[in-house]
Amino acid sequence: MAEVAFGGKAGKISLEEVGLRFEVDGEIATITLDRPGRRNAQTFATWSALAQIGDTLPQQVRVVVIRGEGPSFSAGIDLRMFTPEGVPGQGSFASSATLDDSTFEQRIAQAQQGFLWLRRPEIVSVAAVQGHAIGAGFQLALACDVRVLADDAKLCMKEPALGLVPDLTGTKPLVDLVGLSRAVEICLTARTVGAEEAARVGLAELVVAPQDLAGAVADLAAALLATNRDAATATKRLLQGASGRTLEEQCAAERREQVVRVKSLFAGS
Ligand code: ACO
Repeated sequence: MAEVAFGGKAGKISLEEVGLRFEVDGEIATITLDRPGRRNAQTFATWSALAQIGDTLPQQVRVVVIRGEGPSFSAGIDLRMFTPEGVPGQGSFASSATLDDSTFEQRIAQAQQGFLWLRRPEIVSVAAVQGHAIGAGFQLALACDVRVLADDAKLCMKEPALGLVPDLTGTKPLVDLVGLSRAVEICLTARTVGAEEAARVGLAELVVAPQDLAGAVADLAAALLATNRDAATATKRLLQGASGRTLEEQCAAERREQVVRVKSLFAGS
């Protein structure tokens, strides 16, 4: 497996210092949250580095796997953000609170960029989740197209319990997946959703034993790569647009995509 050098720095911090690993093996890229001693807690530098990985993703990549090292996928935002000292070099919520609204919103928008690229039609993103996925960890899993859970997975949208809202792109996919009522109940109780329930309510496509997680994700990646690349991109684009279109509009979108597919496959044959 080729280790790909991170093409630059996240601010002045290297990927390793941020606690991320990024590896590319052919058409599969794997991003590993790699601070197991802190349960893969995330910081602004994590999100900035994720955005840079998205910006510089090699063109051949079709599947992006996000996984966590150690017992937890991710325990969410680094709790040092809640202290007056904050995270060294990255400030704290107290320092963010001194920013004017527009600058602060801009900072959140930058963080959201670390998550949004995972929805690109050209790739399929897969979260491989074991143990805790709390707050930003849950939202990172929600940012992916598909979630494969170990049966010890515990999902929790903790933000409201801490006086915050989930703001790392997670609220829309959560509502899309489980519906408004269930999303309200999950978020406003900040309760833990186990793997079995996650599969039942649509938060997981697959649940496996922890020792089978890597193998299940590898099998899924292989199955995804077996389809025609351009057809996969066009189909994902169609599916993503479906909820915002009427049936007639969706049928028209299907026709447009199919004309392109058939011409590309059969024109001149
Ligand atoms: N930020 C910083 N450090 C963390 C975090 C975090 N979010 N989560 C865990 N750690 C650290 C702990 O302080 C501990 O460090 P230490 O060994 O120096 O004492 C180490 O990781 C291991 O944590 P434990 O609590 O001992 O691990 P355990 O496996 O028993 O529990 C759990 C894991 C349940 C995830 C627990 O650590 C926890 O509740 N963490 C906080 C979760 C949280 O509230 N996150 C914020 C969500 S809101 C948001 O993301 C916006």
